[in-house]
Amino acid sequence: MSLSTVPLGRTGTTVSGLSFGTWRFGRETDTGELEVDRDQAHRLLSAYAEAGGNFIDTADMYGDGLSEEWIGDWLEGRDREDFVVASKVYWPTREDDPNGRGIGRKHLRRQVDRILDRLGTDYLDVLYCHRFDDQTPPEEFMRTLDGFVDDGRVNYLGASTFEPNAWEVARANEIADRRGYEPFTLAQPRYNLVNREIEGNYVEMCEAYDLGLCPWSPLAGGFLTGKYEREGSMPEGTRGAESDRFADRYLSEANFDALDVVRDVAEEVGATPAQVSVAWLMHHPQVTAPIVGARTVDQLEENLAADEVSLTDEQFERLAEAKEYSPMG
Ligand SMILES: NC(=O)c1ccc[n+]([C@@H]2O[C@H](COP(=O)([O-])OP(=O)(O)OC[C@H]3O[C@@H](n4cnc5c(N)ncnc54)[C@H](OP(=O)(O)O)[C@@H]3O)[C@@H](O)[C@H]2O)c1
Repeated sequence: MSLSTVPLGRTGTTVSGLSFGTWRFGRETDTGELEVDRDQAHRLLSAYAEAGGNFIDTADMYGDGLSEEWIGDWLEGRDREDFVVASKVYWPTREDDPNGRGIGRKHLRRQVDRILDRLGTDYLDVLYCHRFDDQTPPEEFMRTLDGFVDDGRVNYLGASTFEPNAWEVARANEIADRRGYEPFTLAQPRYNLVNREIEGNYVEMCEAYDLGLCPWSPLAGGFLTGKYEREGSMPEGTRGAESDRFADRYLSEANFDALDVVRDVAEEVGATPAQVSVAWLMHHPQVTAPIVGARTVDQLEENLAADEVSLTDEQFERLAEAKEYSPMG
């Protein structure tokens, strides 16, 4: 297969319509094992590239830097120019250091050097602020981020998970506009058929400021694959079995009702619930490229095949109405 391509928001860069997320690379489970080890990470990246994918999502804190390091190792034998790589900064990287966190100038500058070093590249295609940081004035972080674009170390800037506070992105972009700094051109919020909090006014903000929208957790952490049931135990080896928070977050009656609609549409179009859920985001007029996660190559291949799923307007609307907007997600 060859994944379709889309413009990366209003930028001049083109990406595959599905991005591949590497959050679970190098992540230790409760039993001390790695959820995705280096060899598996490389198998997943190769499967994604073979399917025609070029848009890789990481962050400085994924696997405590291992995600970036392993992507860097994998890129070594390839042409860096074939890939669009996004990373993020915010979460603490030096536990006892009050400046070892956030998006203040000191931490941003330190982290960009480290990210580039781990990825073995001269530049990042996208640098996201992983979260909003109310300790740092927006004038400071926008000026610092602008410097990275100026010196060529970063191509585009993004705001990740600032939602539901659309105004924080809007204010930062207004400041950037007044001062002639590079604005945020991308947003990376959580968005999927059962997490609808960005429908408050975040999606409208993205439209008003012309931000590309790359949703994370398109499968609600695996819930929308249909492998969790209303009754019964957690399927072994899944995110749900590993984390107590998963059940609280996803296994609600309202979510299972929405999943029933996904299952109906999946049967109608001859696809899996995972593919229909990802396809819904891909059909969404405001969405640029959902970021699919996967622990195995089989999962990844299933998710990437969402690119080939067509939905009618009626099916799109039925899925959109499967769960109502709620500010709590
Ligand atoms: N900006 C942020 O704050 C933020 C936050 C979260 C994620 N992200 C980005 O978004 C990416 C995707 O997030 P996510 O991992 O939460 O996405 P997701 O697609 O909602 O969930 C992925 C998980 O679902 C399960 N899964 C995926 N495909 C499956 C399939 N076909 N069949 C059965 N199970 C399947 C796997 O978990 P199990 O097999 O373990 O059940 C997999 O790890 C991340 O890698 C990261 O790059 C960003």
